[in-house]
Amino acid sequence: MTDTLTLRRPDDWHLHLRDGAMLQAVLPETARHFARAIIMPNLVPPVVTGAQAASYRDRILAALPDGMSFEPLMTLYLTEDTDPDDMAAAHASGLVKAVKLYPAGATTNSASGVRDFDKVRPVLERMAEIGLPLCVHGEVTDAEIDIFDREVVFIDRVLDPIRKATPGLRVVMEHITTRDGVEYVRANETDLGATITAHHLIINRNHILVGGIKPHYYCLPVAKREEHRKALVDAATSGDERFFLGTDSAPHTDANKEMACGCAGCFTATNTMSLVAEVFDRAGALDKLEGFTSVNGPRFYRLPVNDQTITLQKGEPVTYPDKIETRDGPVTVFDPGFPLHWRVV
Ligand code: NCD
Ligand code: ZN
Repeated sequence: MTDTLTLRRPDDWHLHLRDGAMLQAVLPETARHFARAIIMPNLVPPVVTGAQAASYRDRILAALPDGMSFEPLMTLYLTEDTDPDDMAAAHASGLVKAVKLYPAGATTNSASGVRDFDKVRPVLERMAEIGLPLCVHGEVTDAEIDIFDREVVFIDRVLDPIRKATPGLRVVMEHITTRDGVEYVRANETDLGATITAHHLIINRNHILVGGIKPHYYCLPVAKREEHRKALVDAATSGDERFFLGTDSAPHTDANKEMACGCAGCFTATNTMSLVAEVFDRAGALDKLEGFTSVNGPRFYRLPVNDQTITLQKGEPVTYPDKIETRDGPVTVFDPGFPLHWRVV
């Protein structure tokens, strides 16, 4: 039985670091294991211009504790006013690695997102031309669409038309949660990848709602039925290079989660590697773990894989803190509800 695994150092292809006190507290949780991360731009106000991305990158690097290495891969928040020239310049300089599309109102801090997709057509065409990937929060926001159907409807009504209208546009479907999302990726040979979170490999919608409401399992896109979770595990553990880890680790203070209108987001930065190793072990797919965490993502983003490695060891259940403390208040670490046996040593 394998009880030691050495992997190329992993990257996180979808991460929320926030700013200020929260950034200070959560950044070491990611940098401890991950070499790089695609940094989500949904600050208040959002990171829209190249100058804002440069300044956010400086704040992230300033918050990095001495002795830790970590490279933030910056993204721009797509708005109806995004300037294609500013975007192209930020990409050409090496600062910006992707642009994030939030349909307006889809999730936390998405009010400046896109309402009319025709308005961003010139930006998308420029992105296709220069090979800059579009990271997509794939949920429609129409009030009449059931929240559990919003990903599927988005694929049909928004994503597929955008991709057909913009040949060559490279798209990452972020945090897919459905079998339909998996199948859409599999059916499209080129220019399409998808991130999968650790928590969507573990919880289904029952975990959120049965036996009392569990605010720390509530995130967007919301976890779906068990059949969908299984499809995500199949995709992640299959070795298919189009699927890679994006944790969507999204810290909110307990005060903001445990309230009458609690925020969406699961905080997994602290225990991601133990979570995914457990899932891959249970699926008999430890040989596919490195592809998912450390190889498929750089391949999609056309970046080199990391030279450094990390080692995981299997043994007694791993201990990790229930919460991390921040100057804004505690943030609860995602609890899978079962013991984890793989620790990063
Ligand atoms: C994210 C956040 O809190 O910023 N929340 C979440 O539930 N995933 C936003 C997002 O990625 O949707
Ligand atoms: Zn996110």
